[in-house]
Amino acid sequence: MNLQVQLEELKQSTLLKLKEMDGNHQKELQDLRVAVLGKKGSLTELLKGLKDLSNEERPLAGKLVNEVRDILTKAFEEQAEIVEAAVIRAKLESESIDVTLPGRQVSLGNRHVLTQTSEEIEDIFLGMGFQIVDGFEVEKDYYNFERMNLPKDHPARDMQDTFYITEEILLRTHTSPVQARTLDQHDFSKGPLKMISPGRVFRRDTDDATHSHQFHQIEGLVVGENISMGDLKGTLQMISQKMFGAERKIRLRPSYFPFTEPSVEVDVSCFKCGGDGCNVCKKTGWIEILGAGMVHPSVLEMSGVDSEKYSGFAFGLGQERIAMLRYGINDIRGFYQGDVRFTEQFK
Ligand code: DAH
Repeated sequence: MNLQVQLEELKQSTLLKLKEMDGNHQKELQDLRVAVLGKKGSLTELLKGLKDLSNEERPLAGKLVNEVRDILTKAFEEQAEIVEAAVIRAKLESESIDVTLPGRQVSLGNRHVLTQTSEEIEDIFLGMGFQIVDGFEVEKDYYNFERMNLPKDHPARDMQDTFYITEEILLRTHTSPVQARTLDQHDFSKGPLKMISPGRVFRRDTDDATHSHQFHQIEGLVVGENISMGDLKGTLQMISQKMFGAERKIRLRPSYFPFTEPSVEVDVSCFKCGGDGCNVCKKTGWIEILGAGMVHPSVLEMSGVDSEKYSGFAFGLGQERIAMLRYGINDIRGFYQGDVRFTEQFK
């Protein structure tokens, strides 16, 4: 029977082609399936030939067609599984890890240069037995000014205008109010008070290369019995040498702050030229780094501290200024722009 021969040929040739298909023949397998079993496939075509057969021949031929279709359908399924497994195996093999390859560099972030500066200074003071105190960025006029000996109509208030939340609440202009808050709390029967307080401060300034409406200070305060200007000088000498090099000297120049008396401006000998005069120290040999002084008796008394028995010194330094000097940064705005190219320089 012609049809029988054709069916047998189709079966054999399809099975043969199927056997040869491996992981590289996913598409060919699919195409062959369509070509044989699909709506317009060879087997379907043979099926159409059934109608030309006689009534006697037709049932047997129909049975044969069904048998071949079942065999081929099963064979396609089995081969599909084999091909799939080969594809997965090949993928796994190509993804195997070569342990001899160099590792991929993970780029690590680093702390902001101001954070580094602050932590470095904190470490030095912790080593000298100081405690680190936190203050409020949103502060009362009372602590920011009045308790720092700047009553409401004091002309020195003009030096530090700020942003007001209400008439009595403002963004602090300096870290000095932490002095009053800490003095209020301190129990002098347990020993002297030695603290620093780093933090953010605000001024009504127009931003330029050396000014920013917000910046960072570190306040320092030591109050106890027999604390003298010599203690102030020794402490600041020490911190200057740690920050700018062991050869550094400091000098105190008379100045004015309402909350200290006497008040001084502190200069460090130039770390670039050693004091001969250069562009960093503007040819003077000295660089101003902070303000300081002996705590004004009124500041002590307002905290209920007996200014006859206790005395102390205080200082306030600008973190940005210290970092700019140490690293030769010439625009303060670089600290706040969040540009990683700036930050990455201080790894
Ligand atoms: N609060 C001052 C300022 O912001 C800095 C300062 C000067 C702080 C002298 C002090 C000090 O504690 O004794 O300009």
